[in-house]
Amino acid sequence: MTEMKGFPKGFMWGASTSCAQVEGGYDLDGKSLTNWDERKLNPGTCSFHYASDFYHHYKEDIALMAEMGFKMFRLSISWARILPEGEGEVNPKGIEFYKNVFAECHKHGIEPLVTIFHFDMPSSLLKKYGSWSNRGMIDAYVNYCKVLFENFKDDVHYWLTNNEYNVLIFYGAIDMLTGQPADLNALYNGGHHQLVAMAKAIHLCHEICPDAKIGPAPNIDTAYAATCNPKDYLAAMNMDDLRNNMWIDPLVFGTYPKSINSYFRNHGIELDIHEGDMEIMRTCRPDFIGFNCYGNSTVEHLDYYHIDWSVMAGADNRNMSYLMKMMEKPGIGKAVKNDTLPKAETDGHGFDPYCIRVTARRLSDRYRLPVIITENGYGRPDTLEADGTIHDQYRIEHLRGMIEQMKIGIEEGALLFGYCPWSAIDLVSTREGITKRYGFIYVDRDEDDEKAKTSEMKRYRKDSFYWYKKVIATNGEDLD
Ligand code: BG6
Repeated sequence: MTEMKGFPKGFMWGASTSCAQVEGGYDLDGKSLTNWDERKLNPGTCSFHYASDFYHHYKEDIALMAEMGFKMFRLSISWARILPEGEGEVNPKGIEFYKNVFAECHKHGIEPLVTIFHFDMPSSLLKKYGSWSNRGMIDAYVNYCKVLFENFKDDVHYWLTNNEYNVLIFYGAIDMLTGQPADLNALYNGGHHQLVAMAKAIHLCHEICPDAKIGPAPNIDTAYAATCNPKDYLAAMNMDDLRNNMWIDPLVFGTYPKSINSYFRNHGIELDIHEGDMEIMRTCRPDFIGFNCYGNSTVEHLDYYHIDWSVMAGADNRNMSYLMKMMEKPGIGKAVKNDTLPKAETDGHGFDPYCIRVTARRLSDRYRLPVIITENGYGRPDTLEADGTIHDQYRIEHLRGMIEQMKIGIEEGALLFGYCPWSAIDLVSTREGITKRYGFIYVDRDEDDEKAKTSEMKRYRKDSFYWYKKVIATNGEDLD
């Protein structure tokens, strides 16, 4: 038997972006406004209107990705550029823009990995349906997918359905489309509707684009038990079901994990499952599982109490305590700090490179499907030096740790075929403006929208750019 050593030949190295966070051109060429264009911003952070102006810089950006040796580039399509009303009339300018982007990728031998829906929704659609909790969204989404598959069947070979649909309902705490805490029943039903819609899209993709591959892109981690107390172990198992497994199981097995039932019962949640829903999901057969993974959840059991969601209204969503609060699930467990994890050498930030290995293995074992990491990374402010350099050693350290563990994970049997960390290029964070940067490519702009409107937004190569180029050139062998 030949033992797998290192990354397989043809491993898909690349990186990710999303349209709302990188494109700009928010009102150009027929695009309508979205929830992101109109959203209330955190104080001191820029809007999404101009972002990194990928809309005008895409040729230069894709050339830089090619210089790094990318095999794959994950980007998303703006629903509001393609169907300004969300439904109905198609905007030819929107189709043309993405055709040009895909052509540019292929010119450089880069496969676009295209997310159909990454958090941004035409405002008109949101007004009509309210949110995903409205079942009418399923048809609207499938209709949008049909337009994409018909128009881009020759350009796209890898599709992702919805980005982090489990985060979109903030793991059952907040509706990210509206930014408001919502009724738990509505939130989880919104999750169910997304799963049914995605399953229908997978069927449709296989019909219209028989050569393309398609999979979901939830945010998946692994729940670690906080201690060896069996109650914590059970809490971790049940948290995995609620936070992770319930978002993939239906698309592969056509079932929801049974342990979520007691959480649902205790909180008055009842999924409005229509006849045929589970069958559509059972038979859709994703070609792979994409997953975003930023770290683990470390879980302590929590027997029972009621959460007072009103404390979340108006809370600062940039605080860690806010995010941890999201993960309090009465009757299951709550998120706690994990002090056993390594700390980055440069800035002492705690991170968990093991989680990627554990999660890639866990998903491969559970679903027996190829898996790809569609996001992973570390955002921090970067400094553009007078000589045009950017020394982001902390990012290199962070990604090196991840890639080392991915490599061992593959040797241990993880069916990993690609890595697309967040992000290819600096873009606007969902909560923290452009100051928090994730890219290998620096974009010269700050939080000032007025300045951004006319800024050249010059691109610079960060230290991590050169490092990642070497990693790709050696297929993950040289990580120094
Ligand atoms: C993921 C999202 O949850 O995390 C991205 O898919 C997002 O859109 C990324 O940008 C990083 O989070 P943040 O809040 O720092 O932008």
